Amino acid sequence: MPEQKPFLITTPIYYVNGRPHIGHAYTTVAADCIARYQKLLGRQVFFSTGTDEHGIKIQKKAEEEGKEPQAFVDEMAQAFRDLWDKLEIDYTRFIRTTESAHIAAVERVLQDLYDRGIIYQGTYEGLYCTGCEQFKTEDDLVDGKCPDHDRAPEPMKEESYLMKMTVIQQELQARIERDELCVTPEKYKAEILSFLGSETLEDVSISRKNVKWGIPLPFDPSHTTYVWIDAFLNYLTVLGWDGNRENVPEEWPADVHLIGKDILRVHATIWPALLMHLGLPTQKKLLVNGFILSGGRKMSKTLGNAISVEEVLERFGTDGTRYLLMSAGNFGDDVDLTMERMTETYNAHLANGIGNLVSRVVKLSEKLAAPFLPQKLEGFDPEFAELLDGQKLSDALQHIWARIAAANKYIDDEKPWELAKTDQGRFESVIQKLLTDIAVIAYALQPFLPATSEKIEKALREGKTEPLFQRI
Ligand code: MSP
Repeated sequence: MPEQKPFLITTPIYYVNGRPHIGHAYTTVAADCIARYQKLLGRQVFFSTGTDEHGIKIQKKAEEEGKEPQAFVDEMAQAFRDLWDKLEIDYTRFIRTTESAHIAAVERVLQDLYDRGIIYQGTYEGLYCTGCEQFKTEDDLVDGKCPDHDRAPEPMKEESYLMKMTVIQQELQARIERDELCVTPEKYKAEILSFLGSETLEDVSISRKNVKWGIPLPFDPSHTTYVWIDAFLNYLTVLGWDGNRENVPEEWPADVHLIGKDILRVHATIWPALLMHLGLPTQKKLLVNGFILSGGRKMSKTLGNAISVEEVLERFGTDGTRYLLMSAGNFGDDVDLTMERMTETYNAHLANGIGNLVSRVVKLSEKLAAPFLPQKLEGFDPEFAELLDGQKLSDALQHIWARIAAANKYIDDEKPWELAKTDQGRFESVIQKLLTDIAVIAYALQPFLPATSEKIEKALREGKTEPLFQRI
């Protein structure tokens, strides 16, 4: 059998116009769980993340702060790295779009496309939302405003370089329909196919005349590269790609691009178009997450309802935070978080659910005639594995929590502390079953709660345990 290529999973690269927030953490933790799962299956994994550091939005923010753009983005990129460390994000490489190797590759790609007539000079007119760094159509607006940023986009007309799109539309639609470029969950596939079925893709503006903070076009340095073109190429440059079509990295194509629903359309149009023009395979999958809301509304500075990820980490710890994010709702849908609800879930599922189960059973196991020797597990609980193979993160986690709840109920029903006095044989078998269950659960929890899983395995080995999660 031919050797499998490494599994490539990516997060979006985050804009550095602000500090990382819980929405960014959500996407990144999800990617980390999938990456860890694949590693545990024995697959070689390349997991990339990073920061998107060019464009007008960041230029303006740096000016506001009275900082040089490079100094400003250096500081912000570090804030993302620090947060990923706290969340135990085990990425392979963190890419920044201001790295010189990335810039050189972007230049080479643009020159290549220009030389082949795929990029040409023209003018572009449209409504531009700086928040999205995207042109908007009338259909995208609600009451004349961008729904994601709650402000009206600005009319813009300028000389620009454009990339051909119409030529790839049919092929693109076909690939999405056939799941060769799989868009999941299903509703997002329907959304993008309905968009592609109703609109003729316009050629995309790939340069800006009035943005200084960007990569100058090699064939016309009075323009800088449109930030999305620059950003998309990170998915290849992170692998060390130099921009030459002949040197495709062995990890490509990406197995999964994890993205939020607000950046689905660009990922399902501009990015695959760029790849097709380069003669490279398109990404295999776009896995789309919904938004994190707070108290039913989009988090915003104006509403003052933003949940601080630092506060969440301080209160619930790393694994607690990872659990609360991944279990918060159906993956793909919008997910509503409040501190109160998170505290309730933490107490119910972590302190009482898994915490109690492990401490009760390990304590009871002291009364076993011979010490429990956990068998080397052959792999994951099959139902759990099937869910995670399909990247159904919240469902997989729910499956495990059902097992935990069932084990706790089994203890309550069997009352092993009474059996210990009346029926040693039955007691032994009840505890053996529970210990085995816990071993299976700990194994399954590895991708989600790596430290907790390790603590449980240690408790099973040593026959003693400290509380896994303190009640709040
Ligand atoms: N820089 C672009 C992505 C370029 S990828 C080639 C960008 N950056 S972003 O910082 O604005 O958003 C990055 C990701 O964070 C997106 O997937 C977005 O959906 C996600 N989130 C930002 N706010 C969010 C929530 N409140 N909830 C969940 N995810 C959200 O777009």
